[in-house]
Amino acid sequence: MYQFDISAGSKTELYRDLLSALDGLTAGEPDPVANMANAAALIREYLPDLNWAGFYRNVADELVLGPFQGKAACIRIPFGSGVCGAAAVSRETQRVEDVHAFPGHIACDAASASELVVPIVADGRLLGVLDLDSPSPARFDAEDQAGCEALMTLLAPRLLSPLP
Ligand code: SME
Repeated sequence: MYQFDISAGSKTELYRDLLSALDGLTAGEPDPVANMANAAALIREYLPDLNWAGFYRNVADELVLGPFQGKAACIRIPFGSGVCGAAAVSRETQRVEDVHAFPGHIACDAASASELVVPIVADGRLLGVLDLDSPSPARFDAEDQAGCEALMTLLAPRLLSPLP
C-alpha cells in the first residue's frame, strides 16, 4: 500500500507534494503502462474538481487511449483533432477555459466544461498527452499548467521502455 503526504494547503504545496509522490511511485519502474496508470490515479485522487484524468499515447501518429480514471472515453484521436490533437501537433499545453468554445472539441464526457492537455516529450519524441477534464468552467489556471507540466517532465523519461 502506498501512502502519500499531500498538502491540503496552497496549490504550490499541492504540486510540490504531487511531484514528490509521482517521483516515488515511478522511480526505477520501467513499465510505461504501470507508470501512466499510477500517475492517473494519483492525479485524480489529489487534484480537486476533475471528472477525467488520463493519457493518450502517440501510436504511429495517432493518439490512442491509455491508462485513465473516469468514464469510458474515445479510443482514437487523430493528430490535430480536438484539444488533445491540438496539443499533440503543437507540442504546447492547451488550457481551455470553455471546451464548448474550442473548435473541434471532442466530447467524451458530457460533464466536461474545461480541459488541460499537456504534451509529453522525451528525447525529442512526442510520447503522448496528459488530459485532465473538469466539470467546472475555467478550472485550470497558470499554476495548474506549470504544475502539470512539471509532472510530465518528470514522467516522460519513465515512459520510454517499449511495450513487450
Ligand atoms: N476532450 C478531448 C477528448 C478526450 S476526452 O476529454 C477524455 C479532446 O477534445 O481532445
